[in-house]
Amino acid sequence: MDSIIIEESGPLYGKIPIAGAKNACLALMPATLLSDEPLTLTNAPRLSDIGTMTVLLQSLGVEVESLNDGLVLALSSHALKTTRADYDIVRKMRASNLVLGPLLARTGEAIVSLPGGCAIGARPMDLHVSALQALGAEIELKDGYLHARTLKKGRLSGGEHRLKFASVGATENFIMAACLAKGRSQLKNAAMEPEIVDLVRCLRSMGANISGEGSNTVTIRGVEKLHGATHSVVMDRIELGTYMLAPVIAGGEVELLGGTVELLETFCEKLTEAGVEISKTANGLKVKRKLDTIYPVDVKTAVYPGFPTDLQAQMMALMCISNGVSRLEETIFENRFMHAPELIRMGAQIDVQGGVARVEGVSKLKGAQVMATDLRASVSLILAGLAARGQTKVGRVYHLDRGYEKLVEKLQNVGAKVERVN
Ligand code: EPZ
Repeated sequence: MDSIIIEESGPLYGKIPIAGAKNACLALMPATLLSDEPLTLTNAPRLSDIGTMTVLLQSLGVEVESLNDGLVLALSSHALKTTRADYDIVRKMRASNLVLGPLLARTGEAIVSLPGGCAIGARPMDLHVSALQALGAEIELKDGYLHARTLKKGRLSGGEHRLKFASVGATENFIMAACLAKGRSQLKNAAMEPEIVDLVRCLRSMGANISGEGSNTVTIRGVEKLHGATHSVVMDRIELGTYMLAPVIAGGEVELLGGTVELLETFCEKLTEAGVEISKTANGLKVKRKLDTIYPVDVKTAVYPGFPTDLQAQMMALMCISNGVSRLEETIFENRFMHAPELIRMGAQIDVQGGVARVEGVSKLKGAQVMATDLRASVSLILAGLAARGQTKVGRVYHLDRGYEKLVEKLQNVGAKVERVN
């Protein structure tokens, strides 16, 4: 099992390219199930989660070809061979649940294993189920699998639904299923994440009739068929936010190629409050500290456009070296502070009470041997290691490979003392 070793790294200078969004690509790939014509995705990120989705789709009979060093994915589901998504694949990645809606809409049936809990919480599927039932699906839970089908294996019928919570995945499953349903559908309290807007852009290029994406009400007029398309995956705003913090924590000035403030407004506002200078360049964003001091800021995660839960752990790493006390409240997941005990091993002063972490900044963290627990927690430990005295060793870095392509290389290219060992 690989580890990543980080030495205290002086100021960082240089450029970091930002890849295509994992959480957009994981919704775009299942969209191929909605058409028997080829879907080509460009600017695809090279991540193990994309590999897992590839294996899942191939198990359903989808042809998936990775071209141009993984930057291009050529998908075709003209010959599906089963409607059953097996537990042994689904358990590896919750996003596997995004085949439920498109498979049901295309074939009239979908048998998808429940994803099971994961490190950051129980993560049930109730919101997905009720959303698809509003489109006429009959769904029952049997032996840990959701058995979904349409009446007489016919088409879904358009319907209206209000989500109890603006779930990203439930919004994506509803929209994809409604594309082929008979008649008009409308989703209220829909999630507004940029990855959903990107999915809708792709579906529209496949011939779908959708409006309202990016707002909390999305309207879809079903069509008989969708055709093939080529779509470029939107930039990964979570990777962007993660690397924006590297020069803030370690000092220096780094340009994030392809970065834009638009997709991270709340996060950028908080960074500015903390004393960070963010400037637009011809090729992206430049980030550096204004002064040597990092000011404490309070953060409360929320659905988009609020502060992203996927950047909470990384922000905590920064607050560990602020010159005051900050309060981070996690409202999306019930257990997303597992990076806190690891940061405490590095000398951070953090007190977690339920969904709130109180962080008292210290002048310097100390390198330590720490353990990654989930994707974003592991990268927050890497960021903390950049500014910690001595050596930090992060274990179980397979978590990182799920969401950060070429992380060691990207950080080395701006001068970080980081290496991967097994
Ligand atoms: C997406 O997960 C992202 N994953 C997550 O990113 C992200 O943290 C999350 O949205 C919130 O922004 C992908 O897009 C592949 P949700 P998703 O449904 O769709 C509860 C990362 O690090 N819930 O909005 O699964 C759920 O338990 C990952 O890249 C139900 O209760 O998130 C959670 O507490 C982590 N019932 C909350 O809603 C349901 O039926 C948010 O879940 C569905 C969800």
